Amino acid sequence: MTLKELSAVAAAGFKKTYGRLPRWIAAAPGRVNLIGEHTDYNDGFVLPMAIERYTVIAADRPARKTNQIQLISALGDKPASIDLTKPVKPFPKGTWANYPAGVIAGFLARELNPGGFDAMIHSTVPLGGGLSSSAALEVATATLLEAVTGQKLDPVEKALLCQKAEHDFAGMPCGIMDQFISVMGRKNHLLLLDCRSRETKLVPLDDPSVAVLIVNTNVKHELTGSEYPARRQQCALAAKIIGVPSLRDATAAVLRDAKGRLDPMVYRRARHVVGEIERTVHAAEGIRASNWLTVGQLMYASHYSLRDDYEVSCAELDAVVEIAEAIGVKDGIYGCRMTGGGFGGCCVALVKADGVDAILKKIAADYKKRTAIEATVFSSRPAAGATVIES
Ligand code: GLA
Repeated sequence: MTLKELSAVAAAGFKKTYGRLPRWIAAAPGRVNLIGEHTDYNDGFVLPMAIERYTVIAADRPARKTNQIQLISALGDKPASIDLTKPVKPFPKGTWANYPAGVIAGFLARELNPGGFDAMIHSTVPLGGGLSSSAALEVATATLLEAVTGQKLDPVEKALLCQKAEHDFAGMPCGIMDQFISVMGRKNHLLLLDCRSRETKLVPLDDPSVAVLIVNTNVKHELTGSEYPARRQQCALAAKIIGVPSLRDATAAVLRDAKGRLDPMVYRRARHVVGEIERTVHAAEGIRASNWLTVGQLMYASHYSLRDDYEVSCAELDAVVEIAEAIGVKDGIYGCRMTGGGFGGCCVALVKADGVDAILKKIAADYKKRTAIEATVFSSRPAAGATVIES
Protein backbone atom coordinates (compact mmCIF):
# COMPACT_ATOMS: atom_id res chain seq x y z
CA MET A 1 0.00 0.00 0.00
CA THR A 2 1.41 3.42 -0.92
CA LEU A 3 1.48 6.23 1.61
CA LYS A 4 -1.32 7.94 -0.31
CA GLU A 5 -3.48 4.83 -0.13
CA LEU A 6 -2.72 4.33 3.56
CA SER A 7 -3.67 7.95 4.27
CA ALA A 8 -6.98 7.43 2.50
CA VAL A 9 -7.57 4.31 4.62
CA ALA A 10 -6.74 6.30 7.77
CA ALA A 11 -9.09 9.12 6.77
CA ALA A 12 -11.89 6.64 6.08
CA GLY A 13 -11.16 4.85 9.38
CA PHE A 14 -11.31 8.15 11.23
CA LYS A 15 -14.64 9.02 9.60
CA LYS A 16 -16.12 5.63 10.47
CA THR A 17 -15.02 5.93 14.10
CA TYR A 18 -15.66 9.59 14.83
CA GLY A 19 -18.32 10.47 12.22
CA ARG A 20 -16.38 13.24 10.43
CA LEU A 21 -13.29 13.68 8.30
CA PRO A 22 -9.90 14.32 10.01
CA ARG A 23 -8.27 17.74 9.97
CA TRP A 24 -4.69 16.45 10.17
CA ILE A 25 -2.93 13.36 8.86
CA ALA A 26 0.68 12.73 9.89
CA ALA A 27 2.92 9.85 8.79
CA ALA A 28 6.28 8.42 9.80
CA PRO A 29 8.16 5.50 8.23
CA GLY A 30 9.69 2.35 9.69
CA ARG A 31 13.32 1.66 8.88
CA VAL A 32 15.79 -0.99 7.92
CA ASN A 33 19.42 -0.72 8.93
CA LEU A 34 21.80 -1.74 6.15
CA ILE A 35 24.75 -2.03 8.52
CA GLY A 36 25.93 -0.64 11.87
CA GLU A 37 24.12 -2.78 14.45
CA HIS A 38 24.36 -2.17 18.19
CA THR A 39 26.74 0.69 17.49
CA ASP A 40 24.41 3.64 18.14
CA TYR A 41 24.64 3.46 21.95
CA ASN A 42 28.41 3.12 21.62
CA ASP A 43 28.73 6.52 19.90
CA GLY A 44 29.44 4.74 16.59
CA PHE A 45 28.05 4.93 13.05
CA VAL A 46 24.82 3.47 11.64
CA LEU A 47 23.59 3.32 8.04
CA PRO A 48 19.80 2.94 7.98
CA MET A 49 17.16 3.90 5.43
CA ALA A 50 13.48 4.69 5.92
CA ILE A 51 11.22 2.12 4.23
CA GLU A 52 7.96 2.45 2.33
CA ARG A 53 6.00 1.23 5.37
CA TYR A 54 4.38 3.85 7.56
CA THR A 55 2.43 4.61 10.68
CA VAL A 56 -0.24 7.17 9.91
CA ILE A 57 -2.32 9.14 12.41
CA ALA A 58 -5.50 10.92 11.36
CA ALA A 59 -6.79 13.46 13.89
CA ASP A 60 -9.18 16.31 14.55
CA ARG A 61 -10.36 18.42 17.48
CA PRO A 62 -13.08 16.66 19.50
CA ALA A 63 -16.68 17.42 18.55
CA ARG A 64 -17.07 19.15 21.95
CA LYS A 65 -14.09 21.08 23.31
CA THR A 66 -12.31 18.96 25.94
CA ASN A 67 -8.82 18.42 27.28
CA GLN A 68 -8.92 14.73 26.42
CA ILE A 69 -6.80 13.02 23.80
CA GLN A 70 -8.53 9.96 22.39
CA LEU A 71 -6.24 7.38 20.77
CA ILE A 72 -7.74 4.55 18.75
CA SER A 73 -5.62 2.04 16.87
CA ALA A 74 -6.92 0.18 13.85
CA LEU A 75 -4.66 -2.72 14.85
CA GLY A 76 -7.23 -3.81 17.41
CA ASP A 77 -5.43 -2.62 20.53
CA LYS A 78 -7.49 -1.21 23.37
CA PRO A 79 -8.32 2.49 22.87
CA ALA A 80 -6.58 4.86 25.28
CA SER A 81 -7.33 8.35 26.49
CA ILE A 82 -5.08 10.95 27.99
CA ASP A 83 -6.39 13.66 30.28
CA LEU A 84 -4.39 16.85 29.74
CA THR A 85 -5.65 18.42 32.97
CA LYS A 86 -3.37 15.98 34.87
CA PRO A 87 0.33 15.15 34.52
CA VAL A 88 0.80 12.55 31.77
CA LYS A 89 2.13 9.33 33.31
CA PRO A 90 3.04 5.99 31.66
CA PHE A 91 0.34 3.35 31.27
CA PRO A 92 1.16 -0.13 32.64
CA LYS A 93 4.23 -1.69 30.99
CA GLY A 94 3.50 -3.17 27.58
CA THR A 95 0.59 -0.81 26.75
CA TRP A 96 0.89 0.37 23.14
CA ALA A 97 -0.30 3.89 24.03
CA ASN A 98 2.89 4.48 26.02
CA TYR A 99 4.62 5.52 22.77
CA PRO A 100 2.23 8.36 21.91
CA ALA A 101 1.80 9.22 25.61
CA GLY A 102 5.58 9.64 26.04
CA VAL A 103 5.73 11.95 23.05
CA ILE A 104 2.78 14.01 24.32
CA ALA A 105 4.58 14.30 27.69
CA GLY A 106 7.70 15.50 25.83
CA PHE A 107 5.72 18.26 24.12
CA LEU A 108 4.10 19.29 27.41
CA ALA A 109 7.55 19.45 29.04
CA ARG A 110 8.43 22.03 26.36
CA GLU A 111 5.23 23.93 27.17
CA LEU A 112 3.70 22.89 23.87
CA ASN A 113 0.19 21.86 24.84
CA PRO A 114 -1.74 20.38 21.91
CA GLY A 115 -5.13 20.53 23.66
CA GLY A 116 -7.68 17.76 23.23
CA PHE A 117 -8.00 15.81 20.00
CA ASP A 118 -9.36 12.55 18.59
CA ALA A 119 -6.93 10.30 16.74
CA MET A 120 -7.08 7.15 14.66
CA ILE A 121 -3.88 5.20 14.00
CA HIS A 122 -3.13 2.87 11.08
CA SER A 123 0.18 1.20 10.25
CA THR A 124 1.84 -0.92 7.61
CA VAL A 125 5.02 -1.34 9.68
CA PRO A 126 4.88 -4.92 11.04
CA LEU A 127 4.58 -4.73 14.83
CA GLY A 128 7.57 -5.98 16.77
CA GLY A 129 9.25 -7.11 13.54
CA GLY A 130 12.48 -5.19 14.05
CA LEU A 131 11.53 -2.49 11.53
CA SER A 132 10.98 0.17 14.20
CA SER A 133 7.24 0.13 14.50
CA SER A 134 7.64 1.88 17.86
CA ALA A 135 9.82 4.69 16.48
CA ALA A 136 7.34 5.13 13.61
CA LEU A 137 4.51 5.54 16.12
CA GLU A 138 6.52 7.98 18.24
CA VAL A 139 7.64 10.07 15.27
CA ALA A 140 4.17 10.05 13.69
CA THR A 141 2.81 11.35 17.01
CA ALA A 142 5.46 14.06 17.20
CA THR A 143 4.75 15.07 13.60
CA LEU A 144 1.04 15.25 14.35
CA LEU A 145 1.70 17.36 17.45
CA GLU A 146 3.83 19.76 15.41
CA ALA A 147 0.84 20.26 13.11
CA VAL A 148 -1.64 20.59 15.99
CA THR A 149 0.49 23.07 17.97
CA GLY A 150 1.83 24.88 14.89
CA GLN A 151 5.35 24.55 16.36
CA LYS A 152 7.92 22.69 14.30
CA LEU A 153 10.77 21.20 16.32
CA ASP A 154 14.36 21.04 15.18
CA PRO A 155 14.75 17.53 13.63
CA VAL A 156 17.45 16.47 16.13
CA GLU A 157 15.39 17.67 19.08
CA LYS A 158 12.33 15.89 17.67
CA ALA A 159 14.20 12.59 17.35
CA LEU A 160 15.64 12.91 20.86
CA LEU A 161 12.21 13.72 22.31
CA CYS A 162 10.89 10.50 20.73
CA GLN A 163 13.86 8.49 22.04
CA LYS A 164 13.17 9.83 25.53
CA ALA A 165 9.53 8.74 25.20
CA GLU A 166 10.74 5.22 24.47
CA HIS A 167 13.11 5.28 27.47
CA ASP A 168 10.75 6.84 29.99
CA PHE A 169 7.36 5.50 28.91
CA ALA A 170 8.10 2.18 27.17
CA GLY A 171 11.07 1.31 29.40
CA MET A 172 13.32 0.43 26.45
CA PRO A 173 16.82 2.01 26.69
CA CYS A 174 17.24 2.29 22.90
CA GLY A 175 19.88 4.28 21.04
CA ILE A 176 19.13 7.12 18.63
CA MET A 177 19.10 5.34 15.27
CA ASP A 178 15.42 4.48 14.83
CA GLN A 179 13.98 7.86 15.73
CA PHE A 180 16.63 9.75 13.69
CA ILE A 181 15.98 7.83 10.49
CA SER A 182 12.19 8.01 10.88
CA VAL A 183 12.50 11.81 11.18
CA MET A 184 15.32 12.39 8.67
CA GLY A 185 14.95 9.69 6.02
CA ARG A 186 15.33 10.89 2.46
CA LYS A 187 13.97 9.29 -0.70
CA ASN A 188 16.65 7.24 -2.51
CA HIS A 189 19.22 7.79 0.26
CA LEU A 190 20.71 5.99 3.21
CA LEU A 191 21.61 8.06 6.25
CA LEU A 192 25.13 7.72 7.61
CA LEU A 193 24.64 8.90 11.18
CA ASP A 194 27.51 9.63 13.52
CA CYS A 195 25.84 8.81 16.82
CA ARG A 196 28.43 10.78 18.77
CA SER A 197 28.32 14.15 16.99
CA ARG A 198 24.81 13.43 15.60
CA GLU A 199 26.10 14.63 12.27
CA THR A 200 24.29 13.05 9.32
CA LYS A 201 25.46 12.42 5.76
CA LEU A 202 23.14 11.29 3.00
CA VAL A 203 24.47 8.36 0.97
CA PRO A 204 22.66 7.98 -2.36
CA LEU A 205 21.21 4.55 -3.07
CA ASP A 206 19.47 5.19 -6.37
CA ASP A 207 21.24 2.74 -8.70
CA PRO A 208 18.34 1.00 -10.47
CA SER A 209 20.42 -2.19 -10.78
CA VAL A 210 20.35 -2.92 -7.03
CA ALA A 211 17.49 -3.43 -4.60
CA VAL A 212 17.07 -3.85 -0.87
CA LEU A 213 15.08 -6.86 0.29
CA ILE A 214 13.59 -7.29 3.73
CA VAL A 215 12.94 -10.79 4.98
CA ASN A 216 10.72 -10.95 8.04
CA THR A 217 11.34 -14.28 9.80
CA ASN A 218 8.01 -13.78 11.57
CA VAL A 219 9.54 -14.95 14.82
CA LYS A 220 10.19 -12.92 17.90
CA HIS A 221 12.01 -14.51 20.78
CA GLU A 222 10.98 -12.62 23.88
CA LEU A 223 14.53 -12.15 25.08
CA THR A 224 15.01 -8.57 23.98
CA GLY A 225 13.52 -7.18 27.16
CA SER A 226 16.52 -8.08 29.27
CA GLU A 227 19.16 -8.82 26.62
CA TYR A 228 19.29 -5.32 25.13
CA PRO A 229 20.04 -3.49 28.40
CA ALA A 230 22.52 -6.28 29.23
CA ARG A 231 24.43 -5.62 25.98
CA ARG A 232 24.52 -1.91 26.75
CA GLN A 233 25.97 -2.63 30.19
CA GLN A 234 28.59 -5.01 28.80
CA CYS A 235 29.72 -2.37 26.31
CA ALA A 236 29.90 0.30 29.02
CA LEU A 237 31.92 -2.07 31.18
CA ALA A 238 34.35 -2.83 28.32
CA ALA A 239 34.88 0.89 27.69
CA LYS A 240 35.48 1.50 31.39
CA ILE A 241 38.07 -1.27 31.71
CA ILE A 242 39.83 -0.22 28.48
CA GLY A 243 39.84 3.35 29.79
CA VAL A 244 37.98 5.11 26.95
CA PRO A 245 34.82 7.25 27.10
CA SER A 246 33.01 4.81 24.78
CA LEU A 247 33.83 1.92 22.44
CA ARG A 248 33.91 4.43 19.58
CA ASP A 249 37.32 5.43 20.95
CA ALA A 250 38.71 1.89 20.97
CA THR A 251 40.59 0.67 17.90
CA ALA A 252 41.18 -3.03 17.13
CA ALA A 253 44.77 -2.64 18.40
CA VAL A 254 43.69 -1.00 21.68
CA LEU A 255 41.17 -3.78 22.18
CA ARG A 256 43.78 -6.49 21.58
CA ASP A 257 46.05 -4.88 24.20
CA ALA A 258 43.21 -4.88 26.72
CA LYS A 259 42.18 -8.49 26.03
CA GLY A 260 43.81 -9.89 29.17
CA ARG A 261 41.89 -7.45 31.37
CA LEU A 262 38.47 -8.23 29.91
CA ASP A 263 36.17 -11.12 30.67
CA PRO A 264 36.09 -13.21 27.41
CA MET A 265 32.40 -12.52 26.86
CA VAL A 266 32.82 -8.77 27.39
CA TYR A 267 35.82 -8.87 25.03
CA ARG A 268 33.71 -10.45 22.29
CA ARG A 269 30.97 -7.86 22.75
CA ALA A 270 33.55 -5.08 22.36
CA ARG A 271 35.14 -6.80 19.35
CA HIS A 272 31.77 -6.76 17.60
CA VAL A 273 31.24 -3.07 18.25
CA VAL A 274 34.74 -1.97 17.23
CA GLY A 275 34.61 -4.08 14.05
CA GLU A 276 31.05 -3.03 13.21
CA ILE A 277 31.84 0.68 13.43
CA GLU A 278 34.70 0.16 10.96
CA ARG A 279 32.53 -1.96 8.65
CA THR A 280 29.81 0.70 8.61
CA VAL A 281 32.18 3.44 7.46
CA HIS A 282 33.59 1.12 4.77
CA ALA A 283 30.14 0.09 3.63
CA ALA A 284 29.13 3.75 3.17
CA GLU A 285 32.24 4.24 0.99
CA GLY A 286 31.42 1.05 -0.92
CA ILE A 287 27.89 2.24 -1.62
CA ARG A 288 29.13 5.62 -2.85
CA ALA A 289 31.47 3.75 -5.22
CA SER A 290 28.77 1.22 -6.28
CA ASN A 291 31.10 -1.49 -5.03
CA TRP A 292 28.29 -3.93 -4.32
CA LEU A 293 30.47 -7.00 -3.85
CA THR A 294 32.40 -5.33 -1.04
CA VAL A 295 29.25 -4.01 0.60
CA GLY A 296 27.75 -7.51 0.45
CA GLN A 297 30.82 -9.06 2.11
CA LEU A 298 30.66 -6.44 4.87
CA MET A 299 27.02 -7.34 5.47
CA TYR A 300 27.85 -11.03 5.89
CA ALA A 301 30.77 -10.16 8.19
CA SER A 302 28.38 -8.02 10.25
CA HIS A 303 26.01 -10.96 10.59
CA TYR A 304 28.68 -13.42 11.74
CA SER A 305 29.89 -10.92 14.29
CA LEU A 306 26.36 -10.34 15.61
CA ARG A 307 25.82 -14.11 15.71
CA ASP A 308 29.12 -15.19 17.28
CA ASP A 309 30.48 -12.22 19.23
CA TYR A 310 27.42 -10.21 20.14
CA GLU A 311 25.08 -13.22 20.35
CA VAL A 312 21.89 -11.46 19.31
CA SER A 313 20.94 -13.64 16.34
CA CYS A 314 18.73 -16.74 16.39
CA ALA A 315 18.28 -19.90 14.33
CA GLU A 316 15.69 -18.35 12.00
CA LEU A 317 17.82 -15.26 11.20
CA ASP A 318 20.83 -17.51 10.63
CA ALA A 319 18.74 -19.69 8.33
CA VAL A 320 17.86 -16.69 6.13
CA VAL A 321 21.51 -15.64 5.89
CA GLU A 322 22.59 -19.20 5.01
CA ILE A 323 19.89 -19.39 2.33
CA ALA A 324 21.08 -16.06 0.91
CA GLU A 325 24.69 -17.26 0.85
CA ALA A 326 23.67 -20.45 -0.93
CA ILE A 327 21.87 -18.39 -3.60
CA GLY A 328 25.00 -16.26 -3.87
CA VAL A 329 26.12 -13.42 -6.12
CA LYS A 330 25.73 -15.61 -9.20
CA ASP A 331 21.97 -15.68 -8.66
CA GLY A 332 21.69 -12.11 -7.52
CA ILE A 333 22.43 -11.73 -3.78
CA TYR A 334 25.40 -9.54 -2.80
CA GLY A 335 24.97 -9.76 0.97
CA CYS A 336 22.54 -10.41 3.79
CA ARG A 337 22.44 -9.92 7.54
CA MET A 338 20.09 -9.64 10.49
CA THR A 339 18.91 -6.08 11.05
CA GLY A 340 17.68 -4.29 14.18
CA GLY A 341 18.01 -5.43 17.78
CA GLY A 342 17.98 -9.18 17.00
CA PHE A 343 16.46 -12.33 18.57
CA GLY A 344 14.03 -12.55 15.64
CA GLY A 345 12.58 -9.92 13.36
CA CYS A 346 14.12 -9.23 9.97
CA CYS A 347 17.10 -9.76 7.72
CA VAL A 348 18.14 -7.23 5.11
CA ALA A 349 19.66 -8.27 1.79
CA LEU A 350 21.31 -6.30 -1.00
CA VAL A 351 20.37 -7.87 -4.32
CA LYS A 352 20.47 -7.39 -8.07
CA ALA A 353 17.23 -5.62 -9.04
CA ASP A 354 16.52 -7.83 -12.03
CA GLY A 355 16.55 -10.93 -9.81
CA VAL A 356 14.19 -9.63 -7.14
CA ASP A 357 11.11 -11.69 -7.99
CA ALA A 358 12.95 -15.00 -8.27
CA ILE A 359 14.97 -14.29 -5.10
CA LEU A 360 11.85 -13.38 -3.09
CA LYS A 361 10.25 -16.69 -4.00
CA LYS A 362 13.38 -18.78 -3.45
CA ILE A 363 14.09 -17.32 -0.01
CA ALA A 364 10.49 -17.80 1.12
CA ALA A 365 10.36 -21.40 -0.17
CA ASP A 366 13.73 -22.42 1.32
CA TYR A 367 12.93 -20.74 4.64
CA LYS A 368 9.60 -22.57 4.83
CA LYS A 369 11.38 -25.85 4.10
CA ARG A 370 13.91 -25.28 6.86
CA THR A 371 11.75 -23.77 9.58
CA ALA A 372 8.12 -24.57 8.66
CA ILE A 373 7.43 -20.83 9.05
CA GLU A 374 6.07 -18.47 6.36
CA ALA A 375 8.44 -15.55 5.92
CA THR A 376 7.25 -12.18 4.64
CA VAL A 377 9.65 -10.96 1.97
CA PHE A 378 9.41 -7.57 0.28
CA SER A 379 11.62 -4.92 -1.28
CA SER A 380 11.67 -1.23 -0.47
CA ARG A 381 13.40 1.80 -1.94
CA PRO A 382 14.75 4.27 0.61
CA ALA A 383 11.79 6.44 1.59
CA ALA A 384 11.33 9.97 2.90
CA GLY A 385 11.08 10.69 6.62
CA ALA A 386 8.03 11.85 8.54
CA THR A 387 5.56 14.25 6.91
CA VAL A 388 2.25 15.94 7.44
CA ILE A 389 0.01 14.80 4.62
CA GLU A 390 -2.99 17.00 5.30
CA SER A 391 -3.61 19.90 7.61
C1 GLA B 1 17.11 -1.31 18.39
C2 GLA B 1 17.33 0.05 19.04
C3 GLA B 1 18.34 0.88 18.26
C4 GLA B 1 19.62 0.10 17.98
C5 GLA B 1 19.29 -1.28 17.42
C6 GLA B 1 20.51 -2.15 17.27
O1 GLA B 1 16.49 -1.14 17.14
O2 GLA B 1 16.12 0.75 19.13
O3 GLA B 1 18.62 2.07 18.96
O4 GLA B 1 20.41 -0.01 19.14
O5 GLA B 1 18.36 -1.98 18.21
O6 GLA B 1 21.38 -1.61 16.33
